[in-house]
Order: sequence, then structure tokens, then C-alpha cells
Amino acid sequence: MEDWWKKAVFYEIYMPSFCDGNGDGIGDFIGITSKLDYLKKLGINGIWLTPFYRSPKVDNGYDISDYYTVDPDYGTMKDFEIFLMEAHARNIKVIIDIVLNHTSTEHRWFQESRSSKVNPKREWYIWRDPVNGNAPNNWISFMEGPAWTFDEKTGQFFYHSFAEQQVDLNWTNPEVKAEMFRVMRFWLEKGVDGFRLDVINHLKVTVRFNDNPWDEEVGEQIHCYDKNQEGILEVIEEIAAFVHSYPDKFLVGEVSSEDLNELKNYCGKGKLDVVFQFNLGSIPELDVEKIYQQIKEMDIAYKEDQLPTLFFGSHDMSRFITRFAVDGKEEEVAKLISTLMLTAKGVPFIYYGEEIGMRDLVIDDISKMKDVQGLIAYHLALEAGKTEKEALDEANRNGRDRSRSPMQWSQTTYYGFSNVEPWISLPNNDVSVEKQIKDPASMLSYYRNLIAFRRRYPALTTGNYVCLQLENQLFNYKRKYQDVMVDVYLNFSDETKRMDLSPNYEVVLSSRRDLSSPPREILPFEAIVLVKKG
Ligand code: GLC
Repeated sequence: MEDWWKKAVFYEIYMPSFCDGNGDGIGDFIGITSKLDYLKKLGINGIWLTPFYRSPKVDNGYDISDYYTVDPDYGTMKDFEIFLMEAHARNIKVIIDIVLNHTSTEHRWFQESRSSKVNPKREWYIWRDPVNGNAPNNWISFMEGPAWTFDEKTGQFFYHSFAEQQVDLNWTNPEVKAEMFRVMRFWLEKGVDGFRLDVINHLKVTVRFNDNPWDEEVGEQIHCYDKNQEGILEVIEEIAAFVHSYPDKFLVGEVSSEDLNELKNYCGKGKLDVVFQFNLGSIPELDVEKIYQQIKEMDIAYKEDQLPTLFFGSHDMSRFITRFAVDGKEEEVAKLISTLMLTAKGVPFIYYGEEIGMRDLVIDDISKMKDVQGLIAYHLALEAGKTEKEALDEANRNGRDRSRSPMQWSQTTYYGFSNVEPWISLPNNDVSVEKQIKDPASMLSYYRNLIAFRRRYPALTTGNYVCLQLENQLFNYKRKYQDVMVDVYLNFSDETKRMDLSPNYEVVLSSRRDLSSPPREILPFEAIVLVKKG
């Protein structure tokens, strides 16, 4: 049987922000379950849930303090089980985000580890002596600031590749590995359909703890010794073999690297099923040359057993409708990008709210900033002598609250997300599901059509590119399966362009108008999809 995920359209749900079912201002499982029919109608068939395990939530759940429990903010284990059952009843698969690289400092394991140098859990984490009274080396955390924190009690530093409350596990210790496999088994046996593996290429750091070099040009540290280290691929293969020993399970890895040559080592047969390509996904501005280049390079680099992922949004980046904004043309551009995401070759991941065009949230007062990365950026800016206003701008630029505001269900107070004030600020705009659901020209209807279309034509899931070209900002690709050819035209310019199309094509979709036959021109930022049979 063909792997289900090759034909899936995934939808990322940021746990605290999707739907509050119990009236405390925080999203939860009861809320998500109540929206499964909405997701079913949208047409997606896979959900990626961000972490929901018990956590002090310094990094909103990416700091886990108990891997075997549902955090009370999100409900109970029973609520989770009901959600899973209801999703499966609708043929929606569920993959869960698992953080194998680090735990919360509040995790019992770390509490024990830090209690004394001879504690049996000491070697579960990475402890080093000071060097001349300072940190063991110059490593900087991926959230900025030092990656080592001194612990008075035992006079050593512990290592954290992210915030200081997210302490790295020591994956060279077989006990750690065994425990984390036990965690995965626990959830697999509950019936989840796979995992999104958080920062998975960080599991190993060098055993020599050399200083990282400095990139003078960019003014940044080059992370040479704290990710992608020797032995990492063997661990990946072990994880993959274990998870795939359960039938039909899927693994997507967050591999923090923009180097395709590195990325491609992590996926394929015997490894992760797919990895996220941030070189495409987090592209900072609308640049069709770069988008085209990335898609082409992936197509050349990936072998038969490898598939790219397609996404332009997540809980870690600015929403693409804001990021790519062309004044007054936000919606046209968003429809253009979603067409690319759902018709190009790869496994698509939609980020919640993207289907209704939710915009970025801007925080107007630092006291309202929830994201740890934003707060770190703010404090570092103040320390560097910036003004309050400049520091707040830094926090908005580096922080991730911007894409984490509550899902906008209706035009009522709090956008129908909750009956009480939500845990995070709300943006001020009138986008909502309620407003769009019955409007055939809305963004939501467009997403639904695109997903249905993707389902209908195997050329879009199974077909290879028979043509992939960019000319004068008009991006065109053709994908073929058996005798059906799908032909996609994406006009990335703000000019109307002439097109020379054979009348044998049938127009199945335009992002800007109703078309009954192939047009002679394509409008600014328009997407046109055609199909040719035989
Ligand atoms: C991943 C997550 C991000 C988190 C980090 C540390 O990059 O996507 O949200 O802060 O890992 O766990």
C-alpha cells in the first residue's frame, strides 16, 4: 500500500491558540475536537499538534516537564483520547510534536541531576566545569545569549541550546536514549500516527566542546560543533526503524539547516520520511527567483525515495501574508502562494489561520509579549544600549507572538476563540471563518477548492515535473500522471502578461476570476491551473 502521507495535506495547530473549549482563555483538546468538522470540510487529512505535554511553558510547551501527561491547560488524557478517536473517525491522521533534545529545567530528571554530582541522573544532561571561571566554551544559544548556565549548587555549567529553562539531554547516555524511546512507544500505543521531531539534528554535540568559529561578515557564530555532529544519522536511523516498526507511522523532522546537501541526508528510506526545508519555507520576502531556485534544487537533489515539504508558515515565523505583503494586494499574493504550496511537488503543511488570511500580531507593550525569544531579544537590545522603543521593535522582529494569535472564528468578542480574554493579545482586523465560509470568492473557499483539486488529480501528489520554468516572473510547471497533465501558471509580477495556451486545456482554477476557457493573458499575481487529458 502506498504511504498515506505522500498524499496528505497537513494542518499545523498551535495548541494554545486554536480553540478554547473550557473557558479559560487557552486553547485545548475539547476546543480542537469541536472544530474537527471544520477541518474535515477544509479537506485536510493530517494534523500536526504542537506540544501538549505538562510544561511550565516558558517556551509554550517546547519545555516539557512530563512526557507522559497532558498539560492541564489543554485538558486531560481522556480529552486527548477522545480527540484522537474523533479525528480518526473522520479519516484525519494526527502527528504529535515531540521534543527529544531537551527537557524543562523543572523536569524531575533535571531536578535530580542538578541536586549533586553523584546523582544517578547527573549524566542525563550535559554538565561541564568552568574554564578560568567562565563558561566551558563560546557557544551561543539558538535563542541568543550564552548556551551555558552556571549552577551554584554543584559549581558546574549546564548546556542549553535554546532558553536557559530548556536543558539539553545527553544523548550519548544510553539511559536517556532508552527513556526517550519509551516516550515514543507510549504515544504510538495510544494510536498517534507519527511525530514531528523538534530540532532533531541537535541531539548530538561534539564531545570535545571546541569553540564555535565566528562569521565576521554576518557577525554571527557558526554553529559548527553544536548540531549535525558525528553519530546523529545513526540515531535518526534508530528512531526511524523503531517508529516504522509500527505500521503506517510518519516522521517529519525539524532539521535546523538551510543547506540542502545536509538536509537531504536526513530523509528517505530508513530515515525520516520528510524534513522541513526552511530555505524555502522561511524565505523572508516575496522573491520568485529564490523560490524557483529552491524548488528546482530540491527536485534535482532529492532521489526517488525523497519528497520535499511545502510550507510558508509556522509558529516560529511571521505569517506569509504579512511577510510577503505587496500593498493592497495581500490576498492576491496569499492565493498565489497557496496555489504553489498545494500544487507543487511535496507534502504541504498549512499553518492554522493561513486559510483565512490571518495577519501578524504586533505587540504594543513589552508586558504583553509572551514569547521567550521575543523577551530575550528585548533584554539583549536594552543591554546593548537601545531605547525602549527600539528594544520593543527588536522583540516584535525576533519574537514569535506575531503568528500565534488566537484563531479567528467569528466576528464576536475574542473572535469566537474563547468567552474570556485569551492568553495572548488579539490583532485588530476583520478576518474570520464566519465571514468567509459562505463566500465562494473568499480565501477559505479558495483553500478548500485547492485541497479538493489536489485530491482529485494524482498528478499533483504522484506526478513528477515535466517542466519547471521561470520566465519574466511567470512561474510555470507541469506535472503529469498517466495521461493527465496539470499545468500551473503563477504570475509573481504586478503586470498582466500574455500567455500562449493550447485550446486543448481545460481551466480548472483561477485565483482571481471565473474562467471558462484558457485566457490569453494572466493578471497581476494571478494563479491559473489547467488540466489536459490524453
Ligand atoms: C523548535 C520549535 C520552536 C522551539 C524550539 C526549541 O524550533 O519549533 O518553537 O522554540 O524548537 O524547542
